[in-house]
Amino acid sequence: MLPIRRDLHFALPAERIKNWHEQGPFITHFFNALSLLFPQGELFFMDSVRHYRKHIENPQLKKEVQGFIGQEAMHSREHVAYNDLMQAAGLPAHTLDRRLKVMLDLQKKHLPASFNLAVTIALEHYTAMLAEILLSDPSRFGVSVQSYQQMWHWHALEETEHKAVAFDVWNTVIKPGPKRYLLRTGTMLFTTVFFWLVVFDFHLRLLIADRRAGGHLKGFWRMLKFLYGPKGVFPRMALPWLHYFKPGFHPWDHDNRARLDGIDRLVEAVQGPHEEQANLQP
Ligand SMILES: [Fe+2]
Ligand SMILES: [Fe+2]
Repeated sequence: MLPIRRDLHFALPAERIKNWHEQGPFITHFFNALSLLFPQGELFFMDSVRHYRKHIENPQLKKEVQGFIGQEAMHSREHVAYNDLMQAAGLPAHTLDRRLKVMLDLQKKHLPASFNLAVTIALEHYTAMLAEILLSDPSRFGVSVQSYQQMWHWHALEETEHKAVAFDVWNTVIKPGPKRYLLRTGTMLFTTVFFWLVVFDFHLRLLIADRRAGGHLKGFWRMLKFLYGPKGVFPRMALPWLHYFKPGFHPWDHDNRARLDGIDRLVEAVQGPHEEQANLQP
């Protein structure tokens, strides 16, 4: 699976940034909170993988790493534009982004590169799990504003496409054995706590800043169902999360490459068929 860099731009209507999801501002701000993690988070992923680039000899994996970095760079750029819309709408996007930057810069500076790569593969597993939840059930977005949906779908598709790249780098550069297993799984436990605390904190801050969101109390109940209900995001993640703890786990154990069939249609819908080829780079 060779990830392809797709240079797409999304014309997101600024006036809908606080309420683009079909089910109202509460769920809109859950996705907005995730969006706030991406510019700094994806920079962290790229740096963690880049650190080990010189140790990779396999030409296929080298190309995949190039594709991975290309895709994450595009995601980061588009989420910066997305987050700027939040800032312009009076939400504290830049403050939260700076806070995350301080935390991740400290982590990059003071913690070992192997730990940072372990955090990267744990979070890549998270993005792959979230992507599968979005791609497997179109009703998650329903009739939300189209360009916002398209952007999340594009990101989910490419997270699926490159879900194993950082993991294959990990398997190549870290010595196999019980120490590697313990570092990978222990880091997943640490990352799980850290990741959800940050998402929860950012979500709450966006809701507090968007006072009008409180007027949609029905939306609060919908959000609880969306996140924690029987078909909610969290229960759906329980099993794939546990799979990560299998000693021989690999992201493609769950073969969902069929989801990628829709990618060309999406690119065409976003930019039109004539531009499509010009903007695809291996
Ligand atoms: Fe990404
Ligand atoms: Fe990713």
